[in-house]
Amino acid sequence: MCGIVGYVGPQQAEDIVVNGLRRLEYRGYDSAGVALVVDGKLVSEKRAGKIANLDKALADHPLPESTTGIGHTRWATHGPPTDRNAHPHLGQQNRVALVHNGIIENFAQLRTELENAGHELRSDTDTEVAAHLLEAEVSAGADLTTAMQHVCNRLEGAFTLVAVDAHDADRVVAARRNSPLVVGLGEGENFLASDVAAFIEHTREALELGQDQVVTITREGVEVTDFHGKPAEAKPYHVDWDLSAAEKDGYDWFMRKEIHEQPRAIADSMLGRRDASGALQLDEIRISEGELRDVDKIIVVACGTAFYAGLVAKYAIEHWTRIPCEVELAHEFRYRDPILTRDTLVVAISQSGETADTLMAIRHAREQRAKVLAICNTNGSTIPRESDAVIYTHAGPEIGVASTKGFMTQLVACYLLALYLAQVRGTRYGDEISSVVRELEKMPEHVQRVLDESGPVHELAAELRDAKSVLFLGRHTGYPIALEGALKLKELAYIHAEGFAAGELKHGPIALVEDQMPVFCVIPPQGRDFLHDKMVSGIQEVRARGARTIVLAEEDDDSVAPYADVLIRLPKVPTLLQPMVAVVPFQLFACELATQKGHDVDQPRNLAKSVTVE
Ligand code: F6R
Repeated sequence: MCGIVGYVGPQQAEDIVVNGLRRLEYRGYDSAGVALVVDGKLVSEKRAGKIANLDKALADHPLPESTTGIGHTRWATHGPPTDRNAHPHLGQQNRVALVHNGIIENFAQLRTELENAGHELRSDTDTEVAAHLLEAEVSAGADLTTAMQHVCNRLEGAFTLVAVDAHDADRVVAARRNSPLVVGLGEGENFLASDVAAFIEHTREALELGQDQVVTITREGVEVTDFHGKPAEAKPYHVDWDLSAAEKDGYDWFMRKEIHEQPRAIADSMLGRRDASGALQLDEIRISEGELRDVDKIIVVACGTAFYAGLVAKYAIEHWTRIPCEVELAHEFRYRDPILTRDTLVVAISQSGETADTLMAIRHAREQRAKVLAICNTNGSTIPRESDAVIYTHAGPEIGVASTKGFMTQLVACYLLALYLAQVRGTRYGDEISSVVRELEKMPEHVQRVLDESGPVHELAAELRDAKSVLFLGRHTGYPIALEGALKLKELAYIHAEGFAAGELKHGPIALVEDQMPVFCVIPPQGRDFLHDKMVSGIQEVRARGARTIVLAEEDDDSVAPYADVLIRLPKVPTLLQPMVAVVPFQLFACELATQKGHDVDQPRNLAKSVTVE
């Protein structure tokens, strides 16, 4: 949510900053802007709308050359997305420029204080107060680093700030509290950004900043302190993906590329999970086996698509480990005063590792002494850093705003966690665990087949283009997939869509069904209790009310053919793993329908990836 870039070095700062913003545009696309230091002055350009608008403004009014600059791409919180509210914001004398990600909660009070002191604020944002405060500090003689430390102590809320001072050309200073910020370490140049994608084409060496730290970059080096000026440590790391992973590779959308990367992402997330004897090993788990044996309750916290991965996890965890498992929307969790003890394991699922709601949930859990395990795709992000243990998924960078390969690898991590707990606690025999792991190892092949046979999904998208409302039904692990199918359609195609547990239909939602309404139905594998047959009854119920049924069923499941207007075949896999194959047609369908409607699939309206405000 909001992308931030800072640069100092020998190259043209405008190019580096704007290219970096382009790679961060998935974080917010309400406006974009840059500020550069030129001969003791600031020059700045900013525009509402996507970066293309900024590009045009820069082409029409080129900025002078500069080797120090900052930039921002915005997801609006305070103040509408206008040129005036776009970042960077400047201080009263146009000496300091500042960009910000997050929310400054006490901005109203600070604004009144500044206005009483004669400052004229020019925007409706919460950010501008910080620019004025910083400038007041440097005008009074502080250097930018010290000024930043002082100002941070006055701010409440969540923020990453990056600033330049026109009188100090070779320095960019940043600070972080509860919002992401990484440093890119170059040769004779250094970078700051919300995400390594912004500088990956220049360096893969990065520094992970801690909470409440201020960082100063110059051409020669990087200095990190806390908010009181005390030297602080930041953790160096190497980014294990390169520029090609951050580019579209010939696909029309990042999302489509990421859907097609899923077989590889699953395989990568399975790598190195077994030791020589075949036993599962999850070496990023820093909770002892004894502690895991004592766990008496698991609570999964997550938001959106990651929450649906959590709903799938509940089926696997309870089935394989017999530990009671609750799944909770992270933003609801701490407000209901949940019962947590030392023996509660809270599992936080987050692709970005920066979702503020999930972060606040884990902080609450740790305050109550529960143990926290993160499932995360972003190395060095805040959620894993603040957790007792982490299972990293290896999806590679996910740039499309709608999560696809992130979700798929979250499923892998959830299954692995459930199986590992079963192994440690002895609730399942080794043979059974190995056989599920072998099934998981076959999933890249199965998912590849679903992708290869996705032709009907594309035709279906053309056919359902003008649908006003679509339902998704499932039972058991098909239920979270119905929810995910509906979410994908809402966020990408802007079509009203609802997912239901099929058994719930007759308790109310069936009233929505009208003649020719498209209803997607996920059929569980055959032969598991009565689940399959119950779901088939569910389809009959909606067909009787005129629904047009699109049925996802196992390849040799002939029993459903009479009830399907369109039949999409899925490879035969165990029931608990079926979400991994069933979700793929839904991802493709939403992507295709949105494309056909002319929507921006990678940047759906009103959304941003990585929601770093609560
Ligand atoms: C939907 C989607 C979102 C995210 C949610 C959590 O396609 O991507 O619903 O799943 O915002 O994000 P993370 O996983 O980064 O915590």
